Amino acid sequence: MWTSLVFFALATAVRVNSGSSGLPVDKVYGVNLGSWLVLEPWMLPNEWVSMGGDTCFETGSCADCAASEFDLVKKIGQTKADQVFQNHWETWFTQSDVNNIANAGLNTVRIPMGYWIIEDLVNRTTEFYPRGGIKQLKRGLQQLKNARINVLLDFHAMPGVSSSLQMFAGHCTSDVEFYTPPNYFRALQWAAVTTFISHVDPAFSTVFGIEAVNEPLMDSTQTPGYGDYLTDFTLVVRAMEFVLGITCPNVEYASLLKVSTPANSRRSNATASSGSSLSLSSLASNVGGRAGQILLSVIPIIADVSIELGVPNPLASALFGGLLGGVNRQCLHTTFMDVLWQNVQGFNPANAVQGPAMFDDHLYYNFGGVADPNPTAYMTSICNLPRVQNDTSLGNIPMVFGEWSIATNFNATDQFLTQWADAQKLMYSQSSGWIFWSFKIENGNSDQREWDYFTALEAGHFTKNPAVLNDPHVCDSFRT
Ligand SMILES: *[C@@H]1O[C@H](CO)[C@@H](O)[C@H](O)[C@H]1NC(C)=O
Ligand SMILES: *[C@@H]1O[C@H](CO)[C@@H](O)[C@H](O)[C@H]1NC(C)=O
Ligand SMILES: *[C@@H]1O[C@H](CO)[C@@H](O)[C@H](O)[C@H]1NC(C)=O
Ligand SMILES: *[C@@H]1O[C@H](CO)[C@@H](O)[C@H](O)[C@H]1NC(C)=O
Repeated sequence: MWTSLVFFALATAVRVNSGSSGLPVDKVYGVNLGSWLVLEPWMLPNEWVSMGGDTCFETGSCADCAASEFDLVKKIGQTKADQVFQNHWETWFTQSDVNNIANAGLNTVRIPMGYWIIEDLVNRTTEFYPRGGIKQLKRGLQQLKNARINVLLDFHAMPGVSSSLQMFAGHCTSDVEFYTPPNYFRALQWAAVTTFISHVDPAFSTVFGIEAVNEPLMDSTQTPGYGDYLTDFTLVVRAMEFVLGITCPNVEYASLLKVSTPANSRRSNATASSGSSLSLSSLASNVGGRAGQILLSVIPIIADVSIELGVPNPLASALFGGLLGGVNRQCLHTTFMDVLWQNVQGFNPANAVQGPAMFDDHLYYNFGGVADPNPTAYMTSICNLPRVQNDTSLGNIPMVFGEWSIATNFNATDQFLTQWADAQKLMYSQSSGWIFWSFKIENGNSDQREWDYFTALEAGHFTKNPAVLNDPHVCDSFRT
């Protein structure tokens, strides 16, 4: 999320209702679980140093020292790294955080993940990441489920690195290699495995969507193959669901999967599980090209992950009939950064949709380039934001603002931060909702004021009920 956005145009805001979006809630009110499974040292510099990391990012580039997960593991070694990250995962996101989220009336979290959570995807001769995260993910999901919080799993840090010189990419480097066939392939394997777990492990049953990639490069000329990746992502998610006996409305299975088995002959609920002989390998051999290859290639990975998570592995069996008791049957929302994200407009992610989907827009004012650094310019900009209309007109619905904060690039008063929080909530609520970055910042850090939901809630910038504003008329005098 450490990127600036260019703001294009102002227009009169018109209320657009997302209508029946198919999302689990009418309006998403959420926080990101930032720095839990993908650690961004700027959010917790003291803990980072105690883990063995460095803080060159405070004055220079994060590439100059151990200021990303990759460089910390390289610096302190795998064994030690596994220990310090285990401690971090256990303490950064706890039951008390879950309680805080629930008590704040929030209904959703977005969980940024690195591809290394699926350990078989990591090439350990050249890539250095901590091990053991997946059990922590399961632990957290179980706690969130108990609190009835919905979850969007976000592919945040991609194989090969998707963004230059960013801590959120997992490896702070200018060597960006994600947009290449072998790394797309690994990302699609990650999608297949994540789809599998989300449906098979009961702890994952409040997962309603998987986001294909967080914040790809904004210049679409630098992301060759990105549109094909999104299309293949959908294909892989739907193919894995199909194998598990889950079919979704508005999916053309016959053409998508090139299977002769009509979708409606598949079991459509767990009780109707008279045997099917459609095995993963027979499906995979029907599915054309890369998707078939991916389904076959993840069989051993799924075997490993099933053991780690202690879930049955239906794919180990030749027949899938009868396996479906207890699986999560809702089709996943394939989730994509919206079409407005890339400023040289290339592929419209709406074209990658088959079945339930969601779109994600991110907006930060503090990095500059959006509005002049003063309160009036911020308010005039946000109160006339055309993005919901723009996305709607391009078929990017339902859409949520999946990252935003109340940070500014001027010295804001407390009074302004309250206005600023209200105005953003008002405008983002025109979409299907919002997810704040982030749930917490290390205690005592000056960034807490503008980036930590609970600190801002305590300060009164946010309201006890997220659907309510301190001042519902906050934008009235700024509309142009
Ligand atoms: C890991 O990376 C090295 C160096 O690029 C390469 O030679 C090797 O084939 C890779 N291994 C796998 C399993 O991809
Ligand atoms: C799904 O299960 C219900 C019983 O729980 C049954 O009545 C219904 O016919 C089943 N649907 C299909 C398509 O088999
Ligand atoms: C967004 O909508 C506004 C108002 O309709 C229009 O002027 C602007 O060109 C649109 N921008 C994009 C990127 O679609
Ligand atoms: C904010 O105030 C501090 C101290 O008063 C000052 O050092 C800093 O330059 C100011 N920042 C901006 C962006 O104006």
